[in-house]
Amino acid sequence: MSAESFESRLASAAETVDAVLEDLLAATARAGEIARPDRLLDAMRYATLGGGKRLRPFLLAEAARVFGADGANVLRAAASVELIHSYSLVHDDLPAMDNDDLRRGRATAHRAYDEATAILVGDSLLTLAFDVLADEKTDPDPAVRVDLVATLAIASGLGGMAGGQMLDLAAEGRFADDKAPLSLSMDDILRLQAMKTGALITASAEMGAIIGRADKAGRKALRDYGHLLGQAFQIADDLLDVESDAKTLGKATGKDSSMGKATLVGLMGVEAARERLAGLVAEAEAALNPFGDKADVLRQAARFVADRRN
Ligand code: IPE
Ligand code: IPE
Ligand code: MG
Ligand code: MG
Ligand code: MG
Repeated sequence: MSAESFESRLASAAETVDAVLEDLLAATARAGEIARPDRLLDAMRYATLGGGKRLRPFLLAEAARVFGADGANVLRAAASVELIHSYSLVHDDLPAMDNDDLRRGRATAHRAYDEATAILVGDSLLTLAFDVLADEKTDPDPAVRVDLVATLAIASGLGGMAGGQMLDLAAEGRFADDKAPLSLSMDDILRLQAMKTGALITASAEMGAIIGRADKAGRKALRDYGHLLGQAFQIADDLLDVESDAKTLGKATGKDSSMGKATLVGLMGVEAARERLAGLVAEAEAALNPFGDKADVLRQAARFVADRRN
């Protein structure tokens, strides 16, 4: 598959996931809800719809496809991951965190609305993700639903994304009483990035395997792939911060060094980071060997992550 046909496949998958997200964020309250306050719903829609590569839902859906699963239920699980991701971006951009004004080519949620609304957008997207997974429309088997919920929860919280965000901020040296060392080693940075970015990408691939009823070895192969892809993804993000511009990227650039973020690009330099990125892509592709050509789209996704321009 050529790079162009991969990108059009990613774009059409994004449209399909957007339709599910649109439905989940409809004006009408779902069964059990009391009401959907207009301002909060508008802001959730603003933060979630219209923009974003939808890479994580794509990975989940393509991982499921390796095991022969491709129903509407898979798209619900895929949407749940994007809800978490969108929430993480809204909170990441808050003044108390990265303090950014631009996201996906437009004003960040707290700029378009206000900080309190942006905090509640995050809270509500986060909880909606688990509502979606717990619903029997996502999978008829309660054991599979619990597995999906647990996998996403563990990836998103204390020992995953949120914990990684904590380490990321601590590494800037902003907490006066923090005992964390300010100059991070390679291993420290790898752990920070595996948590803040890698965990959700790994969970996306693994959740595809779960909903596809993969056996133990299949699930592990997808986890390994996701872990390697997550590392590659954050290196690419850090390279783009140095080498791209806000117009192409849809978010501010040059911020990591100005804020004193701990990145591999900062530690090793651009050239070495680029080499490492290429190595990770090759390893991620190799993790898919057990699946032969059934995993070609996921292999292409690894190359896309490294070569992407935004
Ligand atoms: C950006 O993620 C934030 C990181 C985890 C580095 P993406 O580059 O996937 O952002 P969108 O969803 O396409 O906007
Ligand atoms: C964000 O990392 C990771 C999460 C949102 C969990 P960054 O702070 O590097 O992401 P960008 O560059 O703002 O998209
Ligand atoms: Mg950040
Ligand atoms: Mg940020
Ligand atoms: Mg970044």
